[in-house]
Amino acid sequence: MKNIELPTEQDTIDLAAYITPLLKPGDVVLLGGDLGSGKTFFTKQVGRFLGIQEQIDSPSFVLLKEYNCGLYPLYHLDLYRLKDEGELLDLGIFDMLESGITMIEWPELAEKLLPYYTIKMVFHFDGLKRSVDVIPAEEYEVYFS
Ligand SMILES: Nc1ncnc2c1ncn2[C@@H]1O[C@H](COP(=O)(O)OP(=O)(O)OP(=O)(O)O)[C@@H](O)[C@H]1O
Ligand SMILES: [Mg+2]
Repeated sequence: MKNIELPTEQDTIDLAAYITPLLKPGDVVLLGGDLGSGKTFFTKQVGRFLGIQEQIDSPSFVLLKEYNCGLYPLYHLDLYRLKDEGELLDLGIFDMLESGITMIEWPELAEKLLPYYTIKMVFHFDGLKRSVDVIPAEEYEVYFS
């Protein structure tokens, strides 16, 4: 786990510029952290670096948005308003995971159903300082520990 300080929006943009080229179809990015900590902002930047022209907005009312104009589809989920885990099954996310890059805000609300993740990022904002914990997939943590 690595904690990276994000004092300015540009720092978050730079981090997205660094991470986006490492992502490939099938990858799942879990985005943890409280309200307003920067999950959607980060996703917007990843979308931009993937070449998506469309405006990326928070999908909290619809749970899932799909953006197709870039290199690969980007699936942006926000599970904040998920009522029960069955709702996630209804979205059919398991069929789509392999075809694009999936970024999931509030993933802990469906943790048991999510099959795997590539990278987990937990954003922090205490009113003064912003940072993010970057956590690689569990299997790698085991491998390197
Ligand atoms: N260093 C920074 N990194 C990211 N966002 C920043 C930074 N500094 C300021 N901001 C601002 O903080 C806000 C973060 O809001 P954002 O919608 O990304 O939060 P969120 O984690 O998605 O919240 P929610 O749980 O409600 O979906 C944005 O308005 C963004 O412009
Ligand atoms: Mg958000």
